[in-house]
Amino acid sequence: MEIEREQKLSFEEMKEVPPQFVRPVNERPENTKAVEGVSVPVISLSLPHHLLVKQITEAASEWGFFLITDHGISPTLIQRLQQDQKEALANDPSAASFQGYGTKFTKNLDQKLEWIHYFFHVMAPPSKVDYNMWPQNPPSYRQVTEEYNVELSRVRDMMLEILSEGLGVERNALKSSLGNEEMEMEMKINVYPPCPQPELALGVESHTDMSALTFLVPNEVPGLQIWKDNNWVAANYVENALFVHVGDQLEVLSNGKYKSVLHRSLVNKERTRISWAVFLVPPLETVIGPLPSLLTHQSPPKFSAKTYAEFRYRKLNKLPQ
Ligand code: SIN
Ligand code: FE2
Repeated sequence: MEIEREQKLSFEEMKEVPPQFVRPVNERPENTKAVEGVSVPVISLSLPHHLLVKQITEAASEWGFFLITDHGISPTLIQRLQQDQKEALANDPSAASFQGYGTKFTKNLDQKLEWIHYFFHVMAPPSKVDYNMWPQNPPSYRQVTEEYNVELSRVRDMMLEILSEGLGVERNALKSSLGNEEMEMEMKINVYPPCPQPELALGVESHTDMSALTFLVPNEVPGLQIWKDNNWVAANYVENALFVHVGDQLEVLSNGKYKSVLHRSLVNKERTRISWAVFLVPPLETVIGPLPSLLTHQSPPKFSAKTYAEFRYRKLNKLPQ
């Protein structure tokens, strides 16, 4: 039987980490430190095309994660986005008008809690957006977020083309498998308040993203870690870089060539960490399976095809795919 417990807690009031946030010994940051001297791939989009395809394909295959620079999204736009979204959160942190404002204080008893609160809303396509769910203040929120959506959609299309090329399939193959213009972009703002004992807790526990790709900009407070070759590797802030995660849907479409990256985030003793994530997901009814042109006798499908709705249901309920 599932027992759930509602608790009214505020992170700011806690002088020590309550037991439900204390990770098992083998999961605690103090016992699972990031390896030194290894850094995640950083790739400039201004590289000559053939090199760009090579580097991105390698990073997506070996890491499932990379940073991109020279992506053409202006630093001013990213700063405005961060400023407006912080203001929106500060104005109305408990607003019912947020599509998914949450603090995960309610969970099954055997599960540990995460040191985070967040909100999210659908950012695109227009047919799926409900502007009533977006923060109304500051008034510039909508314009700035829409501008970011336009810019990010451009980068998204470029990434999907390059990743298609890296698979040796037609340029539009990945985008059309993900629903073309009906592909959804979901905005999630993660806020990790200061934590009195960051060595014992996690902001987000280790997981892979359900999306095809996730684009993320963090503030300068470190915390994101990437699992690579049996170690955690810190993915620290790089000015104006966009962090790209390969998610489960791209791993399936590529029949395992691209790796859905395992990652987690740590929290900080003094400072609030914030990250702005955009998840690229297919419409719920879209069937996602390995691209048929990748399959041969020698390389049979490694994943079963199913709708994104079914994939999501299974993942959220921890059922085998
Ligand atoms: C997440 O992967 O859910 C959060 C990543 C981050 O905050 O950097
Ligand atoms: Fe994630």
